Amino acid sequence: MGRVKIRSFNVDKHLCGVLQIEENSFDYPWTNDEFKTYKYSRSTSSFVAEYDDRVVGYLFYEARAHHYQISNLAVVKDKRRSRVASELILRPMSKLAAGRRDIVKTHIREDNLAAQLFFKACGFIMSNIIRQCFDHIDESAYEMVFRHGWPIDIKSNLS
Ligand SMILES: CC(C)(COP(=O)(O)OP(=O)(O)OC[C@H]1O[C@@H](n2cnc3c(N)ncnc32)[C@H](O)[C@@H]1OP(=O)(O)O)[C@@H](O)C(=O)NCCC(=O)NCCS
Repeated sequence: MGRVKIRSFNVDKHLCGVLQIEENSFDYPWTNDEFKTYKYSRSTSSFVAEYDDRVVGYLFYEARAHHYQISNLAVVKDKRRSRVASELILRPMSKLAAGRRDIVKTHIREDNLAAQLFFKACGFIMSNIIRQCFDHIDESAYEMVFRHGWPIDIKSNLS
């Protein structure tokens, strides 16, 4: 899949496509207002992946004091396993710097094996188990981390 483009998330242009993917990907999807709030939060960066002008994936992450926190990542079902998420996750991973923000973190539901395997394939390791991690969901989460200096070995479709 060679025509994926990563762009900054634009509410007017991309929100509709993002909401469709979100609703088909999660039991407790973010609402329209939540996407707008995160988009306009100063600490959040947001990107979409486009294929032939169609939104096929997105990533939101927050810059915290010492790390980047993935807050949302999803890919449309018919484009999964095409390296769309791999392209998106390179954004925070490639910004890591020693002595500054040097870790990318995410919290993945215990039963979300696909996401765990995705982050593992990107070089993340499980660092913690967090009980009652999410609102609405009575389920533990795995905290997965990637640290500055670890090898990034993600195959790119953009080159
Ligand atoms: C998790 C998710 C974002 C992965 O997106 P993706 O674009 O399909 O991932 P990629 O194609 O970049 O996968 C890269 C590698 O990760 C691993 N991987 C990804 N999905 C996998 C799966 N379902 N099963 C096993 N390994 C998987 C594979 O090693 C894959 O490489 P390969 O296809 O050459 O074997 C996608 O499945 C998704 O949108 N899930 C629903 C939302 C979600 O759970 N988000 C994460 C929590 S916020």
